[in-house]
Amino acid sequence: MQSRDHFATRLGFVLAAAGSAVGLGNIWKFPYMTGQSGGGAFLLIYLGFVFTIGFSVMLAEFTIGRAGQRNPVGAFRALKDGPWSAVGGLGVLAGLVILSFYSVVGGWTIAYAVKAATGALAHSDPKSLGDTFGGFISEPWGVIGFHSLFMALTAGVIAGGVRGGIERASRILMPILAILVMILALRAVTLDGAEKGIAFFLTPDFSKVTWDTVNAALGQAFFSLSLGMGAMLTYASYLDKQVNLPRTAAQVTFLDTAFAIIAGFMILPAVFAFGFDPASGPGLTFITLPAVFAQMPLGQAFAFMFFALLAIAALTSAVSILEPVVAYLIDERRMPRRWAALLSGVMIWALGVPSALSLGPWKDMTVGGKGFLDAMDYLASNIMLPTGGVLIALFVGWSISARAQEEAQSDGSHPFPLIRVWIFICRFVAPAAVAWVLISGL
Ligand code: PFF
Repeated sequence: MQSRDHFATRLGFVLAAAGSAVGLGNIWKFPYMTGQSGGGAFLLIYLGFVFTIGFSVMLAEFTIGRAGQRNPVGAFRALKDGPWSAVGGLGVLAGLVILSFYSVVGGWTIAYAVKAATGALAHSDPKSLGDTFGGFISEPWGVIGFHSLFMALTAGVIAGGVRGGIERASRILMPILAILVMILALRAVTLDGAEKGIAFFLTPDFSKVTWDTVNAALGQAFFSLSLGMGAMLTYASYLDKQVNLPRTAAQVTFLDTAFAIIAGFMILPAVFAFGFDPASGPGLTFITLPAVFAQMPLGQAFAFMFFALLAIAALTSAVSILEPVVAYLIDERRMPRRWAALLSGVMIWALGVPSALSLGPWKDMTVGGKGFLDAMDYLASNIMLPTGGVLIALFVGWSISARAQEEAQSDGSHPFPLIRVWIFICRFVAPAAVAWVLISGL
């Protein structure tokens, strides 16, 4: 096998993994899902999943990736003969599904950066902001055009390889985004009427919890932490032995969660202060935030910066969704990196077109009672990722347990005091919890 590209530094890897985790899942999906699922109780259940199953599956992916030094399919195969490599195959497929709709929403963020720059968002009336969003998503050429641009950028970064593309972009831009989100959250929590939103977010009302809430929280934990499809596994395959995997997994989990919570403070208080409906779904961030910008000095400049940085955060995640697919084509199908990026980019683009149209011209076409974009998201986040995540946990917990414990502790150079707890979660807790959520849904 040819020698693999590697991350230059540990910090570079942490930022790239955090760049994968932090994206539209935190800033777009988490606030609207919290809004739809009743607020504080959703948050608590979400946190419960993140710090038990989420952290454990992340460490499992890091372990398999670094031990296998290959794409998801090849890594399973390198560690164990038999059917396990199908788990990697499921991950590669999940990547196709996720990126198809992720790129559509990524396109919205670029479009909104353009709108902010041209002053099209500079009004604070909730109704007209709703109309702006509604008008934008129902006009097919714009939406497809920006989806195409986003997909081309993603494939372009991937074609450039690990160190040149992904690592450099993540290092510079993530910290700037963090600062901006904090400034916006501060503005939002000091709006008149923000208290109701803060209470909604922080006060759990368990009487509203249904199976849907629990299922949504589980899917969101996997989606937000980039777990269950081999994205973290593939990034870790570009690592060498020195890196302390448990510590890195803890840092990435923590950073991702911090971003989501701050995004909650950025959106939900504003939803209540301006009288929007918290359950209004995928448009929430795009409709609410411009109203916050309109209340700020230099609001237009902030709006532009915010949407531009969000587009970049989305790009660093999108790149991590495409990388397993491309790594698979390179390692297993012997394709040159550029061709692999082009081929997978075109396929995913085409799969994204129905999602792009699903909020506009095709809004009456439903799959299982959901619009196409929502249905793709549901299939990936609520079924494919948790299933993939459990199989990853089972693999580490049962199939390669001894080897995994050595690898996770870098052959003894980074002892992990909770190693037994981790294996216990992989063996029993993660499979039981996910099986319970999925089966009670049927
Ligand atoms: N974690 C990313 C986000 O929150 O936007 C999305 C994502 C990336 C999901 C990578 C899955 C994945 F493998």
